[in-house]
Amino acid sequence: MATVSLTPQAVFSTDTGGVLSSATILRFPPNFVRQLSTKARRNCSNIGVAQIVAAAWSDRPAARPHSGGGGGLGRGVASSHAAAASAAAAASPAAEASAIPNAKVAQPSAVTLAERNLLGSDASLAVHAGERLGRRIATDAITTQVVNTSAYWFNNSQELIDFKEGRHSSFEYGRYGNPTTEALEKKMSALEKAESTVFVASGMYASVAMLSALVPAGGHIVTTTDCYRKTRIYMETELPKRGISMTVIKPADMDALQNALDNNNVSLFFTETPTNPFLRCIDIELVSNMCHSKGALLCIDSTFASPINQKALTLGADLVIHSATKYIAGHNDVIGGCVSGRDELISKVRIYHHVVGGVLNPNAAYLILRGMKTLHLRVQCQNNTALRMAQFLEEHPKIARVYYPGLPSHPEHHIAKSQMTGFGGVVSFEVAGDFDATRTFIDSVKIPYHAPSFGGCESIIDQPAIMSYWDSKEQRDIYGIKDNLIRFSIGVEDFEDLKNDLVQALAKI
Ligand SMILES: Cc1ncc(COP(=O)(O)O)c(C=O)c1O
Repeated sequence: MATVSLTPQAVFSTDTGGVLSSATILRFPPNFVRQLSTKARRNCSNIGVAQIVAAAWSDRPAARPHSGGGGGLGRGVASSHAAAASAAAAASPAAEASAIPNAKVAQPSAVTLAERNLLGSDASLAVHAGERLGRRIATDAITTQVVNTSAYWFNNSQELIDFKEGRHSSFEYGRYGNPTTEALEKKMSALEKAESTVFVASGMYASVAMLSALVPAGGHIVTTTDCYRKTRIYMETELPKRGISMTVIKPADMDALQNALDNNNVSLFFTETPTNPFLRCIDIELVSNMCHSKGALLCIDSTFASPINQKALTLGADLVIHSATKYIAGHNDVIGGCVSGRDELISKVRIYHHVVGGVLNPNAAYLILRGMKTLHLRVQCQNNTALRMAQFLEEHPKIARVYYPGLPSHPEHHIAKSQMTGFGGVVSFEVAGDFDATRTFIDSVKIPYHAPSFGGCESIIDQPAIMSYWDSKEQRDIYGIKDNLIRFSIGVEDFEDLKNDLVQALAKI
């Protein structure tokens, strides 16, 4: 029999397909595989797998396995070798671990000795093996794991009491928290320079939860005319049910804001900046001073800016909201929203959210977390392309007007320049034509999708008169949504390709 000596007591059989010939085989020495000659490595091609098997049988996690699927590999081989190996490992785990650089002592293995004694059948194993009595968490994985669970368990009542009293760190129920979502919240807080962030199922629900938690029944809020239509609909139809009244001001009308603050007991000023769809900009520092002098909170919906272009909290806002569906996630593949701010405020939103629901699915949390890794790259690209596009459109004879905060012609260009580091990827414009000409233009573009939403990798174009306001000519007139208005969300495609596409579509009208 060919054998390879590993440690004084460890022997691995290579001619029996990896079956252990000694119950004391526990672990290959550090850098074992690398130290083998090329020839020896070829002869032991399954050495990485064997290392994992040996580690799993020894009731400890493998030390940074380079291949294979982890602890599951050893489970099908129920033998006295395994039990004996487990017993040996259990006898001196600390001593063994200390002999292995980088070994993770704290992690329980996928199948423990206790589990084998307790779970006597495939049925019980199928339900509980690897989970009920300890799990392997790959804390050294580069990516954050998606934790798909609705609840969390406790070893005993004392642990639960310790959890309730803050001595044991865990979660309790999926509506109250999730490790994947928590990682996302921390990333968002870091980007917005916030003490705390709560992530929820949509941008709309982020606004609803924030307003519900922070505006008292019978309170008064101020908001602006130019905003996401559903936010306005929610405020107009739902807030009065709680006795909350509202003053609506034009985005640049600071006298109207002062007037509203002077004449009402205002709880909160809620505004987008830039706004949807005219990209108006509100001076965050100025309005935060105005609000704070009257004891009102300032909440900025910063969805159109993203935290890359604008950090509203550092300018004096108390709260910042995002539809994470847009730039944050950035791939047009997931819905989510968040509210960031001081702990004292966010914990109130969190308490409301924990009762009411609106939970972000952990898989969605992962998609957003993943999308955010390229947020800065995407947004910088979108900023550059959108600015060039806005400049190009402004010069085009078939364009009547362009709305983009990066253009000197924009009414709040000076504000945008002072509080934003980029002007975003959305350009709104009016074509020189009527409803039908605008419709022909939209139907002629080939690269952007004709769809709602914005901020993602794929360019999206729409005619708000149809997409968002088709049901109400009256509302279109009130909010200045002309038939020839276009909202163009620029993705990460090449500028020349997008420009050429617009040129050929404009030639059709
Ligand atoms: C500025 C703004 N805030 C909030 C929302 C709502 O976000 P969600 O669609 O994620 O609910 C939107 C949606 O388009 C938006 O444009």
